[in-house]
Amino acid sequence: MQHHPGVLLTIEGPDGAGKTSHILAIVEHLQQAGFDVVATREPGGSAVAEKLRSIVLNEQMGARCEVLLFAAARADHLDQTILPAMQRGAVVVCDRFADSTYAYQGAGRGLTEDVLTLEQFVLRGFEPTYTLFFDVTLQESAARLAARAGQAGGESNRLDNEISQFKKSVYRGYQERFSQNPHRMHRIDAMQSIEDVRKDVLSWIDCVLIPRLKAPQGAPT
Ligand code: TYD
Repeated sequence: MQHHPGVLLTIEGPDGAGKTSHILAIVEHLQQAGFDVVATREPGGSAVAEKLRSIVLNEQMGARCEVLLFAAARADHLDQTILPAMQRGAVVVCDRFADSTYAYQGAGRGLTEDVLTLEQFVLRGFEPTYTLFFDVTLQESAARLAARAGQAGGESNRLDNEISQFKKSVYRGYQERFSQNPHRMHRIDAMQSIEDVRKDVLSWIDCVLIPRLKAPQGAPT
């Protein structure tokens, strides 16, 4: 596995977990602490990957095409944005990453074996340093999405509108991935109020991430 002075923190969870509202707070908190922070997202985060984003989120396509487009976008994002930032020592905060593909295309579309094969090809053993998993029940995420859809300007996309069997599988996929990756994934109880979620997130940043960033390079964590 490659060694980089920087770290990659990925933010994961089903639609409606509320993670987007916390990412800004994480980025601001780290910037105020004096770190070089790169905020990015998937699908997207590089010129080519942003073009692929608009295709994969808006056009109708089969599952094989979808999984390949997410993989292609990730390969470009990794090479053009994430790895260069990590090489210069930045903290990269990414809204969704490979755990999303495992949950949505793997568990959700029933393509787990193919997703794992593609993951090896795209990541070549690389993985996020840490992942915050925003865990929320299907009922609660559905209620939040409905509330969001009622608001003017609420963004919705093709994958937000999938039927609930798909959402159940996505949720199961996240739980599987969480149990397989305890070394990097930290669960955030996203059933709490926004204020309590925010407190948990920032205290994890202060207690785990910042000490790691301040540790001498290569020190065990
Ligand atoms: P986005 O508008 O970013 O949603 P959110 O605010 O919930 O993150 O849209 C991303 C959508 O793409 C979301 O429904 C999850 C889906 N997705 C996948 O299905 N596979 C992937 O690998 C990634 C990165 C996202």
